[in-house]
Amino acid sequence: MRPDYKELDPQKTYLITGVAGFIGHFLAKRLLEQGCRVAGIDNMNDYYDVSLKRSRLAGLMQINGGSSAFSFIEGDLADKGTVRAVFNKYRPNIVVNLAAQAGVRYSIENPGAYIQSNITGFFNILEACRHSYDQIDQNSGYQGVEHLVYASSSSVYGANQKVPFAEDDCVDHPVSLYAATKKSNELMAYTYSHLYHLPATGLRFFTVYGPLGRPDMAYFSFSRKIMNQEPIQVFNNGDMYRDFTYIDDIVSGVERVLCNPPGAGGVRHKVYNIGNSKPERLMHFIETLEKALSRVTGRRQAAKIEFLPMQPGDVPRTYASTDRLEQDFGFKPRTGIEEGLLKFAAWFKDYY
Ligand SMILES: NC(=O)c1ccc[n+]([C@@H]2O[C@H](COP(=O)([O-])OP(=O)(O)OC[C@H]3O[C@@H](n4cnc5c(N)ncnc54)[C@H](O)[C@@H]3O)[C@@H](O)[C@H]2O)c1
Repeated sequence: MRPDYKELDPQKTYLITGVAGFIGHFLAKRLLEQGCRVAGIDNMNDYYDVSLKRSRLAGLMQINGGSSAFSFIEGDLADKGTVRAVFNKYRPNIVVNLAAQAGVRYSIENPGAYIQSNITGFFNILEACRHSYDQIDQNSGYQGVEHLVYASSSSVYGANQKVPFAEDDCVDHPVSLYAATKKSNELMAYTYSHLYHLPATGLRFFTVYGPLGRPDMAYFSFSRKIMNQEPIQVFNNGDMYRDFTYIDDIVSGVERVLCNPPGAGGVRHKVYNIGNSKPERLMHFIETLEKALSRVTGRRQAAKIEFLPMQPGDVPRTYASTDRLEQDFGFKPRTGIEEGLLKFAAWFKDYY
């Protein structure tokens, strides 16, 4: 653990982008429950079911009896004026950039969406962080943005063979445009740290799942199809491994990083993996999901499987090394898929 480690500071203002998204929602919830002020922005795009995004937001509005600690702004990061106005109004101390066009397969279909949100949007965030230093104000004590934390992804490791994936491994061979935008974010953040002394931390998340999760992800469509007795498509003939990471573990990891920007003495930019460090064979994951769905519905749920070849942009295996995270923050995800999928299945049965 870092000797200078600091717990979450409820006196700070946190700006979360992508707050109506899966991870953004749970992070905002955690911060609000601990008495923090949270401003959240999201463009509410219809890449997946917007009503799910609305219900996540409605949940946030109710925390602490609907206190004024949470402000929501519907707006697009690709619009520079909007981003600047949000920074001017809320003067965040800590910025967490989670807004992005996510998904690997969709980046083949609609590459432009990735450039818009992940490149232009992230550039606007970096610029707003940089210009927050023009607002430093001795009277109010505002110091500008003290830490930018942003979502990267395990997809930056591409088809690397060496496992577990460690932060210092070469990540110069992305196999999807999504991965290329995430790697670009790391490079862009590094440059802003170098040029403007913006302290920044990139978090490479590994396949995040849980209640209120993303309908475009495989476990979600698998669940719907298993319950409807429709066949599920399993790529690479099932020979795939994923380091599935439960949402609460991701949020705990992010929470520990927030008030701990990379230390002075060099460029203040660092990258961490947050993953379970326990890759699951996809077929075992599906069996565990069948059991969880059977348990919550009280009847046997069996998947009908259609095996297909590997899809372009996909990778056969993800596996996180969490040594760096453990060393600096004394934390490592611990939730196994048996426990995590049961919680997901219970929510899924009620919501859908
Ligand atoms: N869920 C995972 O398994 C996973 C894995 C690795 C990395 N990530 C990254 O973590 C972050 C959060 O992922 P998530 O699973 O919560 O995704 P999500 O799609 O549920 O959330 C992203 C949110 O950002 C919003 N958004 C997208 N473009 C925007 C824009 N231009 N302006 C404003 N809002 C915009 C969307 O409406 C959405 O609500 C993303 O950056 C994603 O790439 C997620």
